Amino acid sequence: MPRTKIAGIGFHVPERVVTNEELTQWMETSNEWIIERTGIEERRYAKKYVETPTTLAAKAATIALERAGISKEEVDFIIFATLSPDYYFPGCGVLLQRELGITNTSCGALDIRNQCSGFVYGLSVADQFIKSGMYKNILLVGAEVHSMGLDYTTQGRNVTVIFGDGAGAVVLQPTEEEGKGILTTKLHSNGDYAEKLCFISPGSHCGYHQSHQDAEVDYGFDPDLDLGGMFITQKMVDDGLLYPYMDGQFVFKFAVQKFPEVIKEMLEEVQLPTSAINMFIPHQANLRITQFVQRLLRLSDDQVWSNIQKYGNTTAASIPIALCEAWEAGKVKDGDLVAIAAFGSGFTWGGALIRW
Ligand code: UT7
Repeated sequence: MPRTKIAGIGFHVPERVVTNEELTQWMETSNEWIIERTGIEERRYAKKYVETPTTLAAKAATIALERAGISKEEVDFIIFATLSPDYYFPGCGVLLQRELGITNTSCGALDIRNQCSGFVYGLSVADQFIKSGMYKNILLVGAEVHSMGLDYTTQGRNVTVIFGDGAGAVVLQPTEEEGKGILTTKLHSNGDYAEKLCFISPGSHCGYHQSHQDAEVDYGFDPDLDLGGMFITQKMVDDGLLYPYMDGQFVFKFAVQKFPEVIKEMLEEVQLPTSAINMFIPHQANLRITQFVQRLLRLSDDQVWSNIQKYGNTTAASIPIALCEAWEAGKVKDGDLVAIAAFGSGFTWGGALIRW
């Protein structure tokens, strides 16, 4: 059976840099607080009405396709991971197909809704399709524009300061080269904590989630209205309820357990020690999480790539952006063992081991 290799990789981030200092104009926060708790120094924000997850993804994908040496018409499957899609529906997969000008309608398009783990989930799905022989050139992207949907008041500061915009893309192909390619992928989930990191409204929940949350929220629903009209209410808008929510400390505690767990699980399967990892690319959630995991796994600074300082947390885009940067910097070379791992909303988490 062939293995799956990354044949091309690219990333693209918006030009606009937003420093921590700039955020202090809108909310009570400080450069010192953000750096101390997260390691983030700046992030990128998309140009409104011009840059969307799809347009950022198209730029990253164009670079990845060129590096893979294939034309856009040779792409036989698109996988798009994002939590900030251009539209509620249709998904970004088809929008990317159009944006790239792919006219081949035999190309399928799949959208992945796994937030921070979206890229890892996408990679695992792509791996199965390639190994089964169904597809030969899969374009997998992770792209986010968070800046459109954040609460820039002090109320939203714990979430807003963390996130940034960007996109990363890979082209996946089969390889028969001995020992090369994706060695294993692992996927996990635990829905018990769905509301610990979430973006609930607007949505079709009709207040359903309240039984899973501590606090009762008045969304201004009319319970006697059984013909819709509750997807978004004026009260949601007036009360600022249309933003992401995160119980930061709770998520942090889970993340620092699950990253090392999944790495160890993968290494055990392929019977390699942690010292065999040449480069660990974690989802860039928080520099403190990465440093904690690094210490626990006893990895040296040379074995770990962090770029959250420059881009913040770009959820589904963070791993392909970091992987691409590490590769461009010559830190991921032929034959290297690359470990990637992600944890996030859901909760979902997972990882992949790749022999480059
Ligand atoms: O990528 C998906 C997975 N996400 C994560 O892995 C994120 C995990 N969590 C975290 O990274 C951290 O929990 C945060 C960076 C979000 C928050 O750091 P923390 O050390 O857990 O802070 P906290 O939420 O416990 O808040 C401590 C204090 C609070 O003030 P009081 O109650 O002690 O007076 C917050 O109101 O810091 C305050 N605070 C802020 N102060 C200045 C919260 N956000 C900010 C802010 N600027 N941006």
